[in-house]
Amino acid sequence: MFGGASNLAADVDKAFIFIFGVSFILIIGITAFMIWTVVKFNRKKGIPAQQFTHNNTAEIIWTVIPTIIVLVMFWYGWKGFKTMRTVPDDAMEVTVISYMWSWDFDYGDGKISKELVLPINKPVKLNLVSQDVNHSFFIPAFRVKEDVVPGYDNWLWFEATEKGTFDIFCAEYCGLLHSGMLATARVVEDAEYTQWLASVESVKDKPSPEGEAIAKANSCLGCHSLDGSKLVGPSFKGLYGSKKIVIEDGKEVEIEVDDTYLKTSITDPNAQVVKGFNKGLMQSYSGVISDEDIDKIVDYLRTVN
Ligand code: CUA
Repeated sequence: MFGGASNLAADVDKAFIFIFGVSFILIIGITAFMIWTVVKFNRKKGIPAQQFTHNNTAEIIWTVIPTIIVLVMFWYGWKGFKTMRTVPDDAMEVTVISYMWSWDFDYGDGKISKELVLPINKPVKLNLVSQDVNHSFFIPAFRVKEDVVPGYDNWLWFEATEKGTFDIFCAEYCGLLHSGMLATARVVEDAEYTQWLASVESVKDKPSPEGEAIAKANSCLGCHSLDGSKLVGPSFKGLYGSKKIVIEDGKEVEIEVDDTYLKTSITDPNAQVVKGFNKGLMQSYSGVISDEDIDKIVDYLRTVN
């Protein structure tokens, strides 16, 4: 009705419009009645006030009518909800991996994409996985929104009925860059989808550097982005070999990011904090990550451009 782009949209819109319509009529009606009584029974007109103790007709009306209205609301909601929680057997599956602050779409076989690409008119079940905190997966155009909770296998399904690109949001406050936790869903023809899926490189084919796995396992990427965006700490992108102003003993010093600087930053993170970032937010990983593994992380950082 408002241009929803999935099979679920019509039911959601019907429930919404019915509830909104009833609320709208009631607020106008009640307000008008209040104003009318204030004018009509104005004391200056001298109409004497009466006490009522009982009025069968009024009591039946204000019990039966709201009950019917609420049951109709329930009916619209229930009808849509039942469809939403019944996945067709032929639905394709994609796993949505969420983390602070981004989405990955895992198509299986090591094929992981930053964009959700879907064939038109085909039911798809999205398995919702969180690697850290609560998120909420929200595609307004498809009228789907589900919480993504660590340790709980949540899911949703829909069938995209319109080609185009649609916004994906995180709808659960999940920290500093919650509002930047965005992605897009792109709905294409079947043939184009098959072609696209074949073009997605499988991570199985390109083994990731050991240091990357170590950095992920220690949650480094929660605070240091790979795409240049500013999180709690400086981005890893292009970090190695760059020149930075750091604060050392309260003074500004220019340094070049090399092996020594990176190793020091992991074992004694508050010694030379890059200007513009807060001191004391990172703990020392001395003794937490072995020297050998720290070397591997540094090797990996050399490759992040
Ligand atoms: Cu993830 Cu908000």
